[in-house]
Formats: sequence, C-alpha cells, structure tokens
Amino acid sequence: MTKSKIRRIGVLTGGGDCPGLNAVIRAVAKTGMFRYGLEIFGIEDGYLGLIEDRIRPLSVSDVSGILTVGGTILGASNKANPSQFKVLENGKWVEKDVTDRVLENCRKHKLDALVIIGGDGTMAGAAKLIDRGLKIVGVPKTIDNDLPGTEMTFGHDTAVATGSDALDKVHTTASSHHRVMVVELMGRYAGWLALRSGLASGADVILIPEIPFKLDVVADACDRRSKHGKRFTLIAVGEGAFPAGGEMVVNHVDESSPEPIRLGGIAKHVADEVEKLTGLESRAIVLGHVQRGGTPTAFDRILATVLAHHATELLADGRFGEMVVVKNGKIDAVEISSIAGKIRTVQPGDSLVLSARAVGTCFGDVIEPW
Ligand code: F6P
Repeated sequence: MTKSKIRRIGVLTGGGDCPGLNAVIRAVAKTGMFRYGLEIFGIEDGYLGLIEDRIRPLSVSDVSGILTVGGTILGASNKANPSQFKVLENGKWVEKDVTDRVLENCRKHKLDALVIIGGDGTMAGAAKLIDRGLKIVGVPKTIDNDLPGTEMTFGHDTAVATGSDALDKVHTTASSHHRVMVVELMGRYAGWLALRSGLASGADVILIPEIPFKLDVVADACDRRSKHGKRFTLIAVGEGAFPAGGEMVVNHVDESSPEPIRLGGIAKHVADEVEKLTGLESRAIVLGHVQRGGTPTAFDRILATVLAHHATELLADGRFGEMVVVKNGKIDAVEISSIAGKIRTVQPGDSLVLSARAVGTCFGDVIEPW
C-alpha cells in the first residue's frame, strides 16, 4: 500500500444526478482504501450535507454492487452552493454565504480533502471552497456534456442512448401515422444531447441552442419530405433551442436554486407552429428526467471508473484544485478555477454538425440543398 499525506477524504455528488455517479463513488472509495489506506466519508445530498453536517463513513460493503446502479447512493442536490445558499426569510428567498459552516464540518470530521463530483454549478462552488483553503479534486459529471476542459463527462453517453432509443421508438409511430414528431431533449444551454441523440437516430431536423432556427425553414424540411414520399418527419430539439430573434422557453423559475431557470416547452411550440405552417399533423414529446435515469452504459461505467481512479491518484499525489478531464482522448487534469462558471457549447462548425448536415439533416437555419 502506498503512503499518502491524506488520511481521510469526503466524497459528494453535486448538481442533478446522472448515470455513473455510483460508479465514481465506488472507484474513489476502493482506490482510496485499497491503494492508499484512506478512510472514506460519504457526504449526503451534495453540498447540502456539507452544510447540514450529514457526513458518514463508507465501508467496502457500502460501495459494493453499485457499479451498474443509476442515481447516487449519497443523494444529490442542485440547490445548495455554499457561497450562494438560498434561505427563506419573511417569505422571500435570500442568498447567504455559509462557507464557514462547511469549513467547520470538514474540521469536525477531520476531512483532509474532498472529491467533488459535479457539473458547472458544482465546480463553481468548488472553486470558492478552494479559495477558502479546502483541498479538492473534481470529477466531471453531467448528462449535458457542457463542462469546459473535458471532451466528455460521464452520464452523457447513457443519456444519449436513452434519447436515441426514444427517437427510434417515435420514428416508427411517426411513420405509421404520417406525422411530424418533435422530441425534446434536455441539455440546458448546450445542444450536445439533442445533437448526438438526433445524429444516432437519423433525426431529419435537429434544433440546438447554438444554432437559432427559423420556423419556415423547419416547415419547409417537413413539407419537402412529404413531397418526396416520406410522409413523416422526426425532429430532435434541445430544450434550450430557440427561434432566431426569439427566446428560450422557460418551464419554471425555481427561486430556491442559485440557478433558478428551468427550461422546457420548445417541442410543443415547434410542433404547433409546424402544424400551422404545413397542415401536417404534429406531436410533441418531452423526455425530461427519463434521460437522467437508468443503468449507465458500459462506456459511462468505464469512464466513471477511470476518472475516479485518476482523481484519487491526484489527491494522493497532493495535487489539489484540479478536475480530471478527457483531453485528446486521454486522461488529464485542469485547474478548477480555469473552468468555473463557464460552459462548453456546440460550435456550429463542430464535426458532428458537419456530418449531420452532410447526410441531409436540417438545423433550421438554412434550407439544405437536397
Ligand atoms: O444539468 C442537468 C439537467 O438535467 C439539465 O439538462 C436540465 O435542464 C436540468 O438539469 C433540470 O434540472 P432539474 O432536475 O432541477 O429539473
């Protein structure tokens, strides 16, 4: 067993859950225990457990048998950034900085360092804790795949598989009923999930936030398919997609969250407008949280395990303040401060977009020449 200056670490899963979180918890705990003799503590419900002192030791048996299980055995919260913690005062949500409570709880449990598994909001929170002296290593998670610095986050592949499976199913019913079917995928302000799911399932139209669409162009694509004898159209739309000159559709505003906007509803808008413009019967389907659930794909299990192993190695080497990433297909690390508060979106010239266009997919911006 290799010696490390770190003796005891805490692990938390922040932000929205996603498939592969348990695989990371397992690999961090097993690498830490077997390789470095570390004591592993699980922090419940992301930063909330750090704030509320819900921290418990994890044994080998706690982390056995969870590799393939979706969700997180620790629980998650996407509302508890310690430096912007929302509390209800006189019926109004106000932001408080409760970082001192976090530092106190880390001291109380003698946690030498933390492994923080999360997306952009969680990493932004981690950057603030690093500034206050906490030793942290990050592991990038999100179904949205929108974290900068890494080519891939675990959870995304499973969500793409779920999205593609749904599109395939909708494809057959679209064909039977000669309908325009508009399937809305998550992804917030990035279109990776809609783009990859749409590409995998041969969606005729893919609409993403990075390429504002024109409804008449979308309607034209549906019309032309009809005229060419394809009497149905499959549209994959990212929840953040919006018409040129228009705005994203907000489903609701959650004032208890430091990031209050929740998107949703663009599929219905597109389906209604396409039906009006073309006369073709249209339906909207919203996949929603189905995309965050289920057992992780083999790809995500492997990625989660490899990222977690390397994160634990970083801790043991005394390399703090970094997040493990995939760069040029290899495992690497970036400073958390360099990516905090930023997101990685699809570039309109991305090879995935170009390949989709090459096979005739319409992005709603220009009429494709076919
Ligand atoms: O970031 C993951 C994600 O699933 C986004 O794709 C989606 O916009 C958001 O979280 C939904 O958040 P909530 O679980 O709070 O509804």
